[in-house]
Amino acid sequence: MHNSTETHNTQWDALWVNVNLATMAIDAQGCGVIREGAIAVTDGRVAWLGEAAELPEQPARCATRIYDGKGQWLTPGLVDCHTHLVYGGNRANEFEMRLKGVDYEDIARQGGGIRATVTATRNATENQLVELAASRLQPLLAEGVTTVEIKSGYGLSLDTELTMLRVAKTLSRRFPVTVSTTFLGAHAVPEEFEGRRAAYVQLLCEQMLPAVAKYKLADAVDVFCESIGFSISETEKILTAATQLGFNVKLHADQLSDTGGAALAARFNALSADHIEYASLTGVEAMAKHGTVAVLLPGAFYYLRESQLPPIESLNALNVPIAIATDSNPGSSPSVSLLLMMNMACTLFALTPEQVLRGVTINAAKALGLHDQLGSLDVGKRADFALWNIQELAELCYWMGANHCSAVIKGGVYVLNKN
Ligand code: NIG
Ligand code: FE
Repeated sequence: MHNSTETHNTQWDALWVNVNLATMAIDAQGCGVIREGAIAVTDGRVAWLGEAAELPEQPARCATRIYDGKGQWLTPGLVDCHTHLVYGGNRANEFEMRLKGVDYEDIARQGGGIRATVTATRNATENQLVELAASRLQPLLAEGVTTVEIKSGYGLSLDTELTMLRVAKTLSRRFPVTVSTTFLGAHAVPEEFEGRRAAYVQLLCEQMLPAVAKYKLADAVDVFCESIGFSISETEKILTAATQLGFNVKLHADQLSDTGGAALAARFNALSADHIEYASLTGVEAMAKHGTVAVLLPGAFYYLRESQLPPIESLNALNVPIAIATDSNPGSSPSVSLLLMMNMACTLFALTPEQVLRGVTINAAKALGLHDQLGSLDVGKRADFALWNIQELAELCYWMGANHCSAVIKGGVYVLNKN
């Protein structure tokens, strides 16, 4: 029996009915599907979810605002947990060189690659960088992405790195998107430190990292641990300094060769080890032991025409959580579509749509250390949702270059609505 007091108690701010939910809940089987579901929001957080038939009252009496999902699918807002969205210029010239057979690593060794983007980024104003990055974030938002990680790493001087992180913070105020910022000052050794690598590592550890910490501009610290990036011992120094300052760490690891990056990341209790095409079984075992998320980046794999697959079998066998991200950047993955990456993760890496959906929701949230807050539909979590005009959930991975996102809800409020 429901008396009026109880009715009052079940008043939510908003309620979506007539939706199929993919909850992606941590302990749920598969995608945690609830067909003919309903989900309620109060104060920007999920207040209730379940089968519509289980609602305590007639929908109209449950909430102030009622939305009819018209049988569409509702998922958590997607999480793109690895991007380099802030940069100047583009590298179409290098793309053409690579098509003619020149190698990505050779281009980098000849002063192109990351360094070319560093020059273009240093030459751009802060406002220009905001506008350029905004033009890349907008299409992600339109695909239901409500949380994005953004790395610095194309400034490589104290001032320009701080500028890049400020640009990322500006985007978080301009867009209804949660932005997690990562300091990647150790992306490459800048030209002015040519032949003086140790001095750059020292600058990173003794000046740049403390400044980033002081201004609270980054949530985590990343290093490009690679033959054309930083060696294992250099990476170890940088991660040690970062950890001492209280930063979470993560690594670009074993992307082009097996340097032992994945194992190093695990040893530092990194949130994630990213790329990992060349990671050894020892690396994967270390990740499994330390709960390090494997962030797989099919865009970079495709764009660099890589043939070495990430160690999918051992990741699966050892239950290492897998996330999928765009790696949006001008050199190895100039893409602004997480949906396309989801398709590629299935076709190129043979992941199941279910794995991929976990990879862009709960596991991506884990890769950012935000899984207590977002990444699944659970009571108490942020009410960040995407609505999809599709019949089958697997269509989110099935289509290639199509976007069926019909609405985006951030903190319980519509920020995009095509319905
Ligand atoms: O994630 N590997 C290092 N960083 C980027 C590419 C950087 C670039 O080429 O500009 C990546 O692939
Ligand atoms: Fe990257």
